[in-house]
Amino acid sequence: MDIDIKTPQDLDKMRVAGRLAAEVLEMIGDYVQPGISTGELDRICHHHIIEKQKAIPAPLNYQGFPKSICTSVNHVICHGIPSDGKILKSGDIINIDITVIKDGFHGDTSKMFCVGDVPEHARRLIRITQECLYKAIKLVKPGITLGDIGNVIQQHGEANHYSIVREYCGHGIGRAFHEKPQVLHYGDPNTGMPVVEGMTFTIEPMLNAGSRHTRLSKKDGWTVTTKDRRLSAQWEHTLAVTRDGCEVLTLRSDESL
Ligand code: MF3
Ligand code: CO
Ligand code: CO
Repeated sequence: MDIDIKTPQDLDKMRVAGRLAAEVLEMIGDYVQPGISTGELDRICHHHIIEKQKAIPAPLNYQGFPKSICTSVNHVICHGIPSDGKILKSGDIINIDITVIKDGFHGDTSKMFCVGDVPEHARRLIRITQECLYKAIKLVKPGITLGDIGNVIQQHGEANHYSIVREYCGHGIGRAFHEKPQVLHYGDPNTGMPVVEGMTFTIEPMLNAGSRHTRLSKKDGWTVTTKDRRLSAQWEHTLAVTRDGCEVLTLRSDESL
C-alpha cells in the first residue's frame, strides 16, 4: 500500500488516540523522580493505558518488544527497555515514548524529563531538540516536501553544534504503528515527497551531544545508544496535515504552539 490518506472519520479516531498518548505523558511526569525504576514507570503507564484509558500499549509485543513503553536514559537514544534494575538518579535525562492504540488507530509521542538537578549542558540539548521539533511542525502544510522538514531540523541542530541521528526517523501512522512515508530528520529543501492534506505522520528528532553514530545492543536487540556514550535527546509528536497547516494530535497541556 502507498500513503494512507485519512478521511475525516479516521481523523476523529486519530485525535482520540493522540490525546490518550499525550495524556499518559501528562500523567507520568510526577513519578519521574530520583529513586524510581524505569520498570516501575512502565507498570504505571501500562496500568493507566489498560485500566483507565481502555486502550492498548502498542509497543508491548511489537516485533517482540517486551514492555509497554520505551524509556531511554542519558546516552540511550531510543527504544530503551524499562527494567526494575534501572533506577533513576539526580542528573539523569530520560525520554519516555508512549504509543497507544484506541479504536484501531495509533497515537505516538515522546518527551524528555529531567531527574532532579540536571546540568545546563544537558538542559540545552533537550531545549534545542524540542526547538527542532517545533520549527518542523510550524513548517508543515500542503505543498512543502519531507526534505523541507528534515532540512529545518538538521540546520537548527547543527547550527547549535549537535549531530542528528540518521538511522531512525519519523513515520506515517494510523491503522499501523509505522506506515509510509519515512520522515527523515535531515535533508535538503524542495526534495522528497510532497506533503498533502490528510497525511498523518510523526516527527521525532534525535540529537546527540557528540557524534551522530549509533550502536544497537547485541544483548537485547533493541536498545540504541550513542557510539561515543555522550548524551542524546528526542521529542516526538503525531501530526495531521490540514488544508492550510497541521494539527498536533498529541499536544499536551504544558505546550502552546
Ligand atoms: N515509539 C517508537 C517510535 O516513535 C517506536 C517504538 S517501537 C518499540 O516510532 F517496539 F520499541 F516499542
Ligand atoms: Co514514532
Ligand atoms: Co514514539
